[in-house]
Amino acid sequence: MSITRRQFLTTTTSLATAVSVPYFGWQKKTLADESQSKNDRVSIGLIGAGGMGLGNLRAASQWVDVVAIADADAGRASAANNTLSDGKAKEYADYRAILDRKDIDVLHIATPDHWHTKPLVEAMLAGKDVYCEKPLTLTIDEGKLIRKVQKETGRVVQVGTQQRSQFEEFVKAIAMVADGRVGKIKKVTAAIGAGPTCGPLPTVTPPAELDWDRWLGPVPAVDYRYFRKPSSGKKRARPNTNCHYEFRWWYEFSGGKLTDWGAHHVDIAVWALEQAGQAGEHGGPTGIGGKATHPVPFKNGMPVDRDRYNTATAFLLTATYPENVELIIRHDTDNGVTIEGDKGKIFVNRGKLVGAPVEALADDPLPEDAIAKVYKNLPMEADGRKAHWATFLNCVKTRKDPISDVHSHMRALNVCHLAGISARLGRDLTWDATSEQITGDNEANAMLSRPYRKEYKINMG
Ligand SMILES: NC(=O)c1ccc[n+]([C@@H]2O[C@H](COP(=O)([O-])OP(=O)(O)OC[C@H]3O[C@@H](n4cnc5c(N)ncnc54)[C@H](O)[C@@H]3O)[C@@H](O)[C@H]2O)c1
Repeated sequence: MSITRRQFLTTTTSLATAVSVPYFGWQKKTLADESQSKNDRVSIGLIGAGGMGLGNLRAASQWVDVVAIADADAGRASAANNTLSDGKAKEYADYRAILDRKDIDVLHIATPDHWHTKPLVEAMLAGKDVYCEKPLTLTIDEGKLIRKVQKETGRVVQVGTQQRSQFEEFVKAIAMVADGRVGKIKKVTAAIGAGPTCGPLPTVTPPAELDWDRWLGPVPAVDYRYFRKPSSGKKRARPNTNCHYEFRWWYEFSGGKLTDWGAHHVDIAVWALEQAGQAGEHGGPTGIGGKATHPVPFKNGMPVDRDRYNTATAFLLTATYPENVELIIRHDTDNGVTIEGDKGKIFVNRGKLVGAPVEALADDPLPEDAIAKVYKNLPMEADGRKAHWATFLNCVKTRKDPISDVHSHMRALNVCHLAGISARLGRDLTWDATSEQITGDNEANAMLSRPYRKEYKINMG
């Protein structure tokens, strides 16, 4: 069970100091209080009104009004409109209509992974601030473009790696690392769970409300696939498809578990290495390799069968950082991050932070500002699912760099993408973090990007 922010404080620092920590803003007028005023509410445009888009904007409903919704599936846009906005938002098939609206400064992008980069880059160029879902990109090169445009435009962009805000256990673990409580890191392990499989799926006509070509967008066109087992009793079987939600398990649209959950736990692992000053001068590994199992054969790094889930189901991949520090990504069920140093070992996940260095905090609490420092001294004004939104909206106001900024996110996501390339090719890779190139392997290096369909090229203005 998740602990409250107040409980968290008291376990992190001594109670006597806890109440005066400015970072949490308990005694201050908070974003939440300020947004009681109607004029202070933020008008939001939502691009991608599926599971996460809905969940996120429900969590942020205290501060935002969703005034525009774009989805390639008109049924989803309309359902989200009823849920989030009492049907009062304007619905669009094409998200670019929202970019043109001068009354909307802030967007939430919660499209599938292959549909993040294009609207995000165009949104930044149109002067919008964006909360974009993880994994931010489908490829390493998309990340280079996003970082460049973010720097040039100065827009506030936060990635949906909410573990940094929503689950205090992670921030506390990182503060412990920064304060030297595990010593010099030797190994960090991100256990992210195994990927699913399914049998061959039939191609069927997409539902009338779904614009399949628009849903595919930048990636090469494939047929729509869908199959739902007949329900047994009251339980409605979840469909297998290459569309809504299940796109994650298709190389065509995503990186499978390696990027879906890797974006969360590898983010924590890399954050730990960075706070320990062990992520290397240019913030990346020197190489990556290991073993992975896919549900279909791969040839030249591409799935041979395209009729069923094809992303890795099992894997043990190791990224090597300077001084042979290992960042391991594995599929084990013990979902979480283990940080091992020469002074001790801690394990952290959503709800658990354990290990001898954690027990030692009872007698030797972290310094008062330990957590504020790793949280970039940003205010944190809400609990639970609201927390990552509160910090984002605060940064929109103050123009500060959010806790899940695109630059730190890409340093972690690059590791996930490299793991995926190594897994698909079945060989070890050498990475030059300075030039952001795979060295000595042209075939692997070509996988840093993917071609966009010409109708869906990014509009650079
Ligand atoms: N932060 C987290 O913990 C977390 C959890 C779940 C999902 N996510 C991320 O959120 C994103 C969405 O995942 P989901 O599970 O909500 O998927 P989903 O399939 O339920 O929703 C995606 C929606 O985007 C729509 N869409 C596709 N192309 C579009 C376009 N061109 N314009 C507008 N809408 C378009 C789809 O029709 C669909 O309604 C993914 O990148 C996923 O990784 C993050």
